[in-house]
Amino acid sequence: MRVGWAFTGAGHLLLESVEELEKLALNHEVTVLLSKAGEEVLKMYGLYDRVKNVTGGYYRELAREKDQEFSFPITGRLSMGRYDLFIVSPTTSNTIAKIVHGIADTLVTNAVAQAGKGKIKTLIVPVDLEAGDVETVLPSKLERDKCEDCQTCKSAAACPKDAIIPGLEIDLLKCSGCGACQIACPFGAVSGGKIITIYMRQLDVENTHKLTHLEGVSILRYPSHIQDNL
Ligand SMILES: Cc1cc2nc3c(=O)[nH]c(=O)nc-3n(C[C@H](O)[C@H](O)[C@H](O)COP(=O)(O)O)c2cc1C
Repeated sequence: MRVGWAFTGAGHLLLESVEELEKLALNHEVTVLLSKAGEEVLKMYGLYDRVKNVTGGYYRELAREKDQEFSFPITGRLSMGRYDLFIVSPTTSNTIAKIVHGIADTLVTNAVAQAGKGKIKTLIVPVDLEAGDVETVLPSKLERDKCEDCQTCKSAAACPKDAIIPGLEIDLLKCSGCGACQIACPFGAVSGGKIITIYMRQLDVENTHKLTHLEGVSILRYPSHIQDNL
């Protein structure tokens, strides 16, 4: 089977999505598409290399939005029906809102539109499915209540990306999620994978429900449900 898999910039369900992608790529040709935010967020969570590692070769490319400029040439493959299946997991509220309003101005929203034109079955795993509180996971975070603001910050010294601003925060756009800072701090002032509760807004949930009206699109609750829908 030839599959397109798109990542948007959601931390929620991200690790689970990468795990499913890895399983799928063992037996199928998978082209991976990354929204700009998808690429950034994968790096923050230390998952970018895992995604990159499943790619390589014709129809197994890693297509990054920042290399696709404004017309997203790679999505032409979808409008020509060159794939058997297109998956978006995880899917941000931003991308869902655009899709349900027919906007196609990012790599991923454009790919969904082109998949529709090419009559390719599309599976979408949204992050906003039900209104209310949901637990989700953070990337590395400097916990200022534990930080002793040492004269020489061991976490900053250990960071290969120069992403730590001592005593203040982590510059997540530089962070590659390697976790060296967490190990280096003697005060445990850098957390990784901290669970927080966020509120799923009614507006975003309503947008997700509008997806059910899109031809050829199925909504899945978890990335693990993809295997049953191949
Ligand atoms: C660490 C981090 C985690 C994020 N997690 C989510 C998320 O779970 N859901 C979401 O809708 N947006 C999340 N965002 C915000 C999106 O990345 C942002 O809205 C982005 O513009 C989405 O672009 P895209 O839809 O083109 O990928 C997160 C941002 C950061 C920095």
